[in-house]
Amino acid sequence: MPDVVVVGAGPAGLTLANLLQRNAVDCVVLEARDRSHVEERQRAGVLDHYGGQIFERAGLAGEVLAGAPVETFLELRYEGEPHLLDAPALAGGRAGRIVPQQLLVRRLLGTFLAGGGDLRFGVRDVALHDLTSTPSLTYTDASGSHRIECAYVAGCDGFHGVSRRSIPADELTTYTFDHGIGWYTVLADAPPPRYPLMGIGAKGFAAHFARGPKASRFYLQYRPGAEDPRAWPDDVTWAELRDRLGDPGLPGGVITEREIVEMRSFVAEPMAYGRLFLAGDAAHIITPMGAKGMNLAIADADVLAGALTSALRGDDAALRAYSDVCLRRTWDYQEFSRWFTEMVHDMDGDPFRRRLAKARFDRLFTNKAAAVAFADMMAGVSAAPGYRRH
Ligand code: APR
Repeated sequence: MPDVVVVGAGPAGLTLANLLQRNAVDCVVLEARDRSHVEERQRAGVLDHYGGQIFERAGLAGEVLAGAPVETFLELRYEGEPHLLDAPALAGGRAGRIVPQQLLVRRLLGTFLAGGGDLRFGVRDVALHDLTSTPSLTYTDASGSHRIECAYVAGCDGFHGVSRRSIPADELTTYTFDHGIGWYTVLADAPPPRYPLMGIGAKGFAAHFARGPKASRFYLQYRPGAEDPRAWPDDVTWAELRDRLGDPGLPGGVITEREIVEMRSFVAEPMAYGRLFLAGDAAHIITPMGAKGMNLAIADADVLAGALTSALRGDDAALRAYSDVCLRRTWDYQEFSRWFTEMVHDMDGDPFRRRLAKARFDRLFTNKAAAVAFADMMAGVSAAPGYRRH
């Protein structure tokens, strides 16, 4: 009987599995998709400083972060006017790493399997049982039906997973928020920007990030329900990007992916029920502003790995505190992400809110304490237990 069954092999599940493995905790990972899907899924792209420290402390940074460039400036163009923010310097040299999520996942998969980890792909019909006594999970795969008993279950199976849905509804309080903003995102064979770039102005938000040495990911704000930008001809997309990024000479390229994402936030409280503990998107969804989705998943996994290890050695204090510790960080990041969203997006063309956003933006370049607070959030420093800047 394994100590822990981890449901889901995304950033949360794989970080947890690796950290448990290093603590000699016996775990089994159940993953619905096949390995190639898990390794190819493109999502986040920045591991914040706090997340990098988690892998450093676990002795995993060598394998997992090899070659990942260190984060430097962020360029914010306000109505075409460039402003460079050296967030790592403002955060006391605490820089994040530019690492595509699929590369991080691929490497975490490799280290777990290289360490003899038991990861089962292509599982179906996962069900969780007896979560308040001795948990067990049933599932099917190509070889038939299976049942596993364990001491604890880690629900790392994302927003649409089975874990959160296994908690009785009256045991959970959920919070949802629709930001009323949509992002049209395209992947293009176009040269990456010198620095991660955001365009802010009356025409709406735009962004340009690197996705490898010859590819770029672009974002354009759109009004959900009023239009579907995926129908735009590519020359309209490029014209919008050049206009909102204030760069008439922006080189184009072949657009290889077109997606829309509507900005919503979600939090489920508590992140635990009996011997089930939720981590990552299974417990919370945050907008991409500030790039905290993957970082929250990894930070939850770090807390849960330590708490489960202690509980298996007889001290369950950290496990009882798990949900509160992770929810404090989750709400801290939710507030930061909303603050950032309001600063860089056109909020329904409302002139008063646009002036508020401009004041918020100007403060970053006129008030050192405000800039440091922003940089600390980008670094994830404020997530550190006992963090105090003053
Ligand atoms: N049984 C087994 N596995 C499941 C099930 C299930 N019923 N449902 C979902 N899964 C798997 C998914 O196939 C996926 O591999 O759980 C994994 C969940 O991974 P993520 O959705 O990536 O969630 P998480 O690990 O919390 O990472 C969150 O990834 O989704 C992005 O933007 C998000 O960057 C954030 C990060």
